[in-house]
Amino acid sequence: MTEKKEQLSHILERHRGERNGLIPVLLEIQKEFGYLPKEAMLKVAECLGMKPVEVWGVATFFNHFRLTPLGKNHVKVCMGTACHLAGGRLVLEALQRELNLKVGETSSDGEFSLERVACIGCCMLAPVAVIKDKIYPKMSPFKVEESLIPYHQKEPAPPEKDC
Ligand code: FES
Repeated sequence: MTEKKEQLSHILERHRGERNGLIPVLLEIQKEFGYLPKEAMLKVAECLGMKPVEVWGVATFFNHFRLTPLGKNHVKVCMGTACHLAGGRLVLEALQRELNLKVGETSSDGEFSLERVACIGCCMLAPVAVIKDKIYPKMSPFKVEESLIPYHQKEPAPPEKDC
């Protein structure tokens, strides 16, 4: 965590006093941390001479910014035109039910997060979902449960020692 704090300090130092640097700073922080931690946003406000509510307003306005960490298994549903027309919304609703998550949420155990994304460039396979960087083509609500099975399995516990 100290390494992360140092990285945050470097990012802030590069942009100190730049009121117009808010979005680049937030992008750098999200790249480093995977999301925008509340403490980091408070530091950003202090460093750029802004009110925390101004930073919060920008962070919550743009869909690109995440306010919670991603889950271990990040699930993305493409809602680009081809996927939308091919039933992407139904796939998204099925995933929401199956994972008991809304779009943008991460499960309390940190295992899953759910996000809707724009075209990911494989429209011929629509509708498409991506689970932990693996593409699931021609998805349907009926394939959702089966697709998630490998990701529900926890890592096996190490064998007990014989002594
Ligand atoms: S619209 Fe979904 S991959 Fe292009």
